[in-house]
Amino acid sequence: MTAWAQGYVTDSPYTFSYQPAQAPGHIAMVCAMAGVAWQPRPGMAVLDIGCGRGLTVNVLAAANPDWNVIGLDYNPAHIAEAQELAEAAELANAGFVEADLAAMTDAELDQLPELDVVTIHGVWTWVSDAVRAGIVRLLARRLKPGGVCYIGYNVLPGFGADAALQRLFRHLAALERTGTSPERAAAALETIRGLQASRPVHLANTPMFQRLTGDEPALDGAYLAHEFLTEHWRPVFFEDLAAALAGAKLEYVGSATMHENIPDMLFEEPQRRVHDSLPHGAPREFMKDLCLQRPFRRDVFIRGLRRVDRIAALDRLVLAAARPMPEESPKLVVPVGIAEMGPDLYAPMAAALNEGPQALGHLRHLPQGRTPNPAEVLAIFSGGMVLPALREGGPSPRTDHFNRVLHRFAQASGSTEGQLAMASPMAAGGLPCSWVELAVCMQPGITAPDADPVAITHRALPHLTEEQAPGAIELVTRMLAERLPIWRRFGVLPG
Ligand SMILES: C[S@@+](CC[C@H](N)C(=O)[O-])C[C@H]1O[C@@H](n2cnc3c(N)ncnc32)[C@H](O)[C@@H]1O
Repeated sequence: MTAWAQGYVTDSPYTFSYQPAQAPGHIAMVCAMAGVAWQPRPGMAVLDIGCGRGLTVNVLAAANPDWNVIGLDYNPAHIAEAQELAEAAELANAGFVEADLAAMTDAELDQLPELDVVTIHGVWTWVSDAVRAGIVRLLARRLKPGGVCYIGYNVLPGFGADAALQRLFRHLAALERTGTSPERAAAALETIRGLQASRPVHLANTPMFQRLTGDEPALDGAYLAHEFLTEHWRPVFFEDLAAALAGAKLEYVGSATMHENIPDMLFEEPQRRVHDSLPHGAPREFMKDLCLQRPFRRDVFIRGLRRVDRIAALDRLVLAAARPMPEESPKLVVPVGIAEMGPDLYAPMAAALNEGPQALGHLRHLPQGRTPNPAEVLAIFSGGMVLPALREGGPSPRTDHFNRVLHRFAQASGSTEGQLAMASPMAAGGLPCSWVELAVCMQPGITAPDADPVAITHRALPHLTEEQAPGAIELVTRMLAERLPIWRRFGVLPG
């Protein structure tokens, strides 16, 4: 571990990933769901604290030429890589700051612009108290009145049961005298997998333990190292996080996982009665964390909470289908069962979304005889089916250039890990995609009526073996049929 690491992993980069919940359009959906006044504005300043390799920052900057999007991280390797992508894509509005949050002086903090949006994903519960205090100082000093803050973190009691697993990881990894953190984490994982066969009574059989020891493909070494090998790994109770952020005058708005804002989707009686008897805020959120046993929360806070009409705010949201809407309602798995819509409600809304972006207020008045609740519609559709549309469609040379550069970088890295995204002018953010989708979408001529899926497959995936080719061709053929209209809709390809 390097001298400046302060207990965090610095000898290898974190995964290269885009986080859709950090997009201001997504944050606006959370605010509407809670009936809180906030909308993205032209000319905004956005800061991603602990930005890692900066993909989210670069995608947001590419899609929003008039926003000033900044990433801050103390790892110079992360900052250098993020800057390289921004420079190659000629993103003058993406900036990166190498700084240790624990040590930033007031003068350094004041070099940041006044911020409309701050995002903090996967940082708070992995760092020391001094770093947490630095985050609160930054928010108190630089987040504008009316500014929003998204934060994703490990939460108690859901992740608490994995405390022993994290300790075990650290002790086992420390036995390895050589190797990078991901290599030592992988060695620790092997021992933990071996232990699993003996059914250890001292290790809780948590979803994480099952995930690590089950048959699913092994988790990425970089993720494991950054998740488990840090000295300060401490999930928190919501109320303790909220109390800390109150130091910057932040108030809780809602969960960025939409259905978690709808008690009907979360509780059976009598849990619901207990929840409803508790005051709003921390007590109710605790009841959710206790009953849901979720390990990770994605929350939105605001500095200066003002109420607006919730239904009107939801009705104003414009949604675009990010995949072809299926014939039947998507089935959202929620704690009380499956949330879905009957065909009479679903069919007209799905047909309209397949035509193009729609205001939620228009969409929910399409079914005959019954008008569904907009929060429920949003919760069911936002589980990956739709994204907020902030602008008119249509590609831009800027996002096109960025997506091509991103493709080049992804190819050069040789890695197939992580969640990528193509910059979309309409979404004012990213359209999430896999690396294969990115490679296919960036091939010349794919919009031509006589585009040949076999040739496209071999160009996009030049290292296919003879055995892999038929499966890959089938995949790409299906992808072209399903994704081309979506790529056009989101402006990543010409219409
Ligand atoms: C788990 S990663 C999350 C990265 C990114 N937000 C994402 O989701 O891909 C945590 C990040 O916090 C950064 N970090 C840790 N301690 C820090 C500190 N004291 N000051 C600034 N950044 C720090 C790390 O370098 C790392 O990039």
